[in-house]
Amino acid sequence: MPKFKTVFVCQNCGYISPKWAGKCSNCSSWNSFIEEVESSEEKNAKKSVSAKPGSPVAINDIVQNVFLRMNMHFSEFDRVLGGGLVPGSLVLLGGEPGIGKSTLVLQSVLNLKNTKILYISGEESETQIKLRAERIGIHNTDCFIYTETNIEKILATIKSITPDIVVIDSVQTVASADLSSSPGTVSQIRECSRQLQEYAKESSTPVILIGHINKDGDIAGPMSLEHIVDVVLQFEGDNNHFYRLLRPKKNRFGSTYEIGVFEMTNDGMKEISDPGNILLSGDNTGLSGVAFGTIAEGSRTLMIEIQALAGNAVFSAPQRNATGFDSRRFQMLLAVIEKRLGLKLVQKDIFLNIAGGLKINDPAADLAVISAVISSYFDKPIRENSCFIGEVGLSGQIRPVSFIEKRVGEASRLGFENIFISASQKSEIKTKVKGVVAVTDIKDFASKLLK
Ligand code: TYD
Ligand code: MG
Repeated sequence: MPKFKTVFVCQNCGYISPKWAGKCSNCSSWNSFIEEVESSEEKNAKKSVSAKPGSPVAINDIVQNVFLRMNMHFSEFDRVLGGGLVPGSLVLLGGEPGIGKSTLVLQSVLNLKNTKILYISGEESETQIKLRAERIGIHNTDCFIYTETNIEKILATIKSITPDIVVIDSVQTVASADLSSSPGTVSQIRECSRQLQEYAKESSTPVILIGHINKDGDIAGPMSLEHIVDVVLQFEGDNNHFYRLLRPKKNRFGSTYEIGVFEMTNDGMKEISDPGNILLSGDNTGLSGVAFGTIAEGSRTLMIEIQALAGNAVFSAPQRNATGFDSRRFQMLLAVIEKRLGLKLVQKDIFLNIAGGLKINDPAADLAVISAVISSYFDKPIRENSCFIGEVGLSGQIRPVSFIEKRVGEASRLGFENIFISASQKSEIKTKVKGVVAVTDIKDFASKLLK
């Protein structure tokens, strides 16, 4: 009879503690311990490592395989993967529930020709998947659907069907019968992914894992899972908006600067190859508190719309609320405005929103954030067709940003006629662009900003 012992495992980092604790002493996350049962057999299995010596290979003797990447139907998807799906790779696609992960992957594999697919779902029934498939169109008849959650059964089926691509939807639903903890716990996710990775590597079959993300935006459960897999992609967007961004967080086979842009339509995902101004909300002429900026991600430059509202403070401690923008950076920018321009922001509740539900962390958006706040504070619209590209330092100076020429080019292409940039970068703009305004610090800038 195996002996059972309960341990508490941090669902964020996998740290094991004999006692429950409110805060993990390893990764400092709160309320993340879950009781899991570890049998003595499991423990012994972990200890029994084969002691035979291995055979390391001299680095010069390693033959490099030229891997042929597989196309995933969407060129946006391929670009984010670094040029297609690498055989034998383990790809994790994370995102909030309902964002369209299943739709994106199913649609990709249903459009591949001469490729055998095994789509394993632990979340939806076969008929539900068929319904979705009919909606998005079935062009690949070699696509098999299997609804199962037991990893041993799943692996046996994969080995008998030998598909070209395996999809697991989702990794939180699969579980190994050898472990006593429930599906979705760190130990289950880690064990199942390890087995899938082993299969992927030995058979050179790519495996796509779909995963949920938790309230902090991390892939639920497993920080450890992100280490195991080769590629981590995040599918983002707002459920109330139609466009979706696909971003790599980690990629062993390509850059992590690329993003893919999609639109959710009635019949599945549509890729957007010229996303330039999709994030802008329309006609804003004459409105105060609206400013435009850019974000640059890999080969893509997107225009963003920043909205600010500065109203009289209701309570003695004024509210500062930023949606889609780092709140600490927002506080810092407000402090800069207060100190360098002398505006009395302390009496104002200030709200900031990035239109389209986007989350940004590009410092080049600082100048646009400041512009929106100043415009709302004075309740005056910004000069028409203005766009703001610059990082703002604590002393109020406007600092240079990356890819300036590309950003300016894109803003000009979309019809912006006053493009504010840091004076230190004026000489970097080689192509002739109309309406570039060079500014040195926010005092100089504020005088040119409003109508
Ligand atoms: P889904 O792919 O199930 O999301 P996830 O796997 O990330 O949880 O997408 C679910 C949402 O997408 C659902 O609200 C309906 C919508 N949807 C469309 O708008 N068009 C479509 O063609 C499909 C299949 C789904
Ligand atoms: Mg799903």
